[in-house]
Order: sequence, then C-alpha cells, then structure tokens
Amino acid sequence: MKIKKLKICGKTFLAPLAGITNLPFRLLVKECGCSVVCSEMVSAKGIFYNSEKTLILLSSKEKEQPLSVQLFGSDPDSLARAAKVVEDLKIADIIDINFGCSVKKVVKQTAGVALMKEPQLSKSILSAVRKAIDLPLTIKIRSGWDHTGQDAFKIAQIAQDAGVDAITLHPRTASQGFKGKANWDLIKVLKQQLSIPVIGNGDINTAEDAQKMVALTKCDAVMVGRAAMKNPFILSQIDDFLESGSYQTPSNYEIFRTMERLTLMYVNYFGEKPACRMLRSRLSWFVKGLPGCSAFRAKLSCIQTKNHALDLINEFEVKIA
Ligand SMILES: Cc1cc2nc3c(=O)[nH]c(=O)nc-3n(C[C@H](O)[C@H](O)[C@H](O)COP(=O)(O)O)c2cc1C
Repeated sequence: MKIKKLKICGKTFLAPLAGITNLPFRLLVKECGCSVVCSEMVSAKGIFYNSEKTLILLSSKEKEQPLSVQLFGSDPDSLARAAKVVEDLKIADIIDINFGCSVKKVVKQTAGVALMKEPQLSKSILSAVRKAIDLPLTIKIRSGWDHTGQDAFKIAQIAQDAGVDAITLHPRTASQGFKGKANWDLIKVLKQQLSIPVIGNGDINTAEDAQKMVALTKCDAVMVGRAAMKNPFILSQIDDFLESGSYQTPSNYEIFRTMERLTLMYVNYFGEKPACRMLRSRLSWFVKGLPGCSAFRAKLSCIQTKNHALDLINEFEVKIA
C-alpha cells in the first residue's frame, strides 16, 4: 500500500489513543509487529507555546518509523504552521488531522468531530496544510452527526479534492462516543467513493475481525486502537492472517516478557514514579483471562517501584506456570 510516496509494508495501523500511544507504547507495538504507529493527538496551538507537555508528545525514535503524527485544531493557519514545524522536525512520515475527537473540550473549539459540520472551514484547513507540507497528509473522521454517514462522505470528498492522501473512517457518530457498534457498511461506501486509500477502524478485536472488515469493505488497511492496549501482538496477527490465513497466539512467556519490556521502557522514559502510576493500569490490561488475574490486578494497583513491578510480574508468571 502507498500513501502518497510512502510505501507501507503491511496493512495495519495503531490508532492514535490520547494518553496511551506515547513513545514507549508505540515502540512496544512496533516491536510486536505493526506497519504504522500513530502519535497521540497534539494541539496545533500547543506547538507554538512550546509547552513541555506538547513537546513530549512529539518525541520519537527512528525505530518506530513510519510514524503518523496527529494534529488537532480549528484554525487553518495554525494547523498549517504546526504541520510544517512537525515536517521540519523530521520525525513524522505522515501528518494526520483529527476530525473525530468528540471530547467536549475539543468540540467546543470547533476542532475534532466539530469540523465535520463545517465543510468550508475543513476545506480551508486541508488546503492550507496541503500547501504547507510535502509529507503524506491524512485525516481521521467519524461517520459524522447522524447515522447516514453523509457528513463523512462529504468531508472525505472535500479532503480528496484538497489533496489529502488517505482517510481513516471510524464509523460511529459524534454523539455515539464508543457506544453501540461501528457501522462497517459506511467504510464500504466510502471506499467505493474515493480513489485515495481508505483505512477502516472500529471494533476490531481479533485478526478474524480485521479479515471480515477487509472482505466486507475492501478497505486498504485497518486501524486498531483498544484491542492493541490489551494485545500489542494483534497488529502482526492481522498482517499474518491477511497474508497467510493463519497467525500465532503469543505464549504466556512472551506476554510476561512484553510486560517486563513495557515496565523498563516506561521507567526509562517517564521516570520511576510516574511510570509506576501508569503501569498500575497498563500492566493489568495484558493479563485479562489468565487464571487469578483479579488478585494480580489488585496487587498491581499498589506498584511503587520498578523492582516491585518486576517482582509482581515474576510472581504471577510462576503462579500460573
Ligand atoms: C483512550 C482513547 C483515546 C483516543 N484518542 C484518540 C486520539 O487522540 N485521536 C483520535 O483520532 N482518536 C482517538 N481515539 C479513537 C481511536 O483512535 C479509535 O478511533 C477508536 O478507539 C475506535 O477504534 P477501536 O475500536 O479499534 O478502539 C481514542 C480512543 C480511546 C479509547
């Protein structure tokens, strides 16, 4: 698959997940096998204030490439300048603009999914960003403000005409949040409408789900969010399944080594105290379904140090062996 001139090996994208897809998590998912990883959403305006929080969101390592950096905002000039700053940093292979976030704070600024009812403003934003950068430009949209998908089809056409190189559709409405089911039929219609690649997203929990989405919609690639939080191997499983019809399930040994790896990467990156706070929830996602996971999770909620985390992982591994 190609997005503009960027050749992508494989068909899997890690979804942008605010608060989750930080650098160490992206590196972990990349190590587990994933074609393209996406940053958390970054405020275009925040880039100009040079806020420490924003700069952390923009930290990257070559090993994770190709990387898609997602920006959000509502002002064409700010978004264009922010995109150019990111391009000049040479960390990103793709710049993505967020048209899907339905969090109140974002919608109130006419950013995220609010843009889906502002076709003129959307056109100005995309034309300005397109003019400012040479990197592949993508957008991530929802179905819009009602169930028909008309907003998505309209914004997608505007985007394609403005020179956007690929579109991800998460087919839930603005008010749906993450409730109900993603309507994959809308991905199918969008794929028929556009000549640029379409990436399907929403409710992929297994490699089999991804294969069903591709078969139904003919989308060019799939994007996975929540399932990758629990199973970072899912993206390579999907690529294997799409290519060969089979995939491997990680052994408990691999799962525990992955948990250790995440622990060490988080501690190196965030520092021991903040990392331990985050690891209390992050590590518990990996053990869903394993015998005795509730008691293990209760212990994880008290992690204080790196060694404490590693000891708990080790103790649980021995217990279920
Ligand atoms: C915790 C969380 C954070 C998210 N942050 C972003 C974000 O920063 N940008 C974005 O476009 N979508 C964001 N999303 C939406 C996901 O990228 C994705 O579209 C959605 O979760 C549906 O895919 P899934 O069913 O594979 O999780 C977020 C979702 C969750 C659950």
